Amino acid sequence: MYKFLKPEIEKLGLPERLFRRKLIDVTKTPWECEGYPQEVKGKQFTITVRQGPQECSIPANADEPVLVAIERAGIKAPSRCRAGECGWCRSRLLVGTVFIPQENEMRRWADVHYGYIHPCCSFPTSDLTIEIPGEFF
Ligand code: FES
Repeated sequence: MYKFLKPEIEKLGLPERLFRRKLIDVTKTPWECEGYPQEVKGKQFTITVRQGPQECSIPANADEPVLVAIERAGIKAPSRCRAGECGWCRSRLLVGTVFIPQENEMRRWADVHYGYIHPCCSFPTSDLTIEIPGEFF
């Protein structure tokens, strides 16, 4: 539905910041999204997670959001919408690259510029080092 609505809303000529979208979740099939690097499909990476003074390394599949890998490892990370919109999971990507589906890319300009991601809708495309909020280890 959003694929239909986005061009229709753009025709109105209003700034995009005035629109809010409610997404139910991030895609379960990122490899079907435009721009997904097909060569990483099915690969496994290592994420070094920093939270406060703690640090650990966890496995992550290229086909799952970074947040899912973090939670599976038993690390409590903040989240709410799980679709890229609220920013509650906002984390700093220190090393590595991620794929963010276009429909879930709702970061502020400054966050993009300074290397922040929303782990709930970011898929690893390399080994990562990420700094997540909170001290919940
Ligand atoms: S939980 Fe809302 S942006 Fe990640």
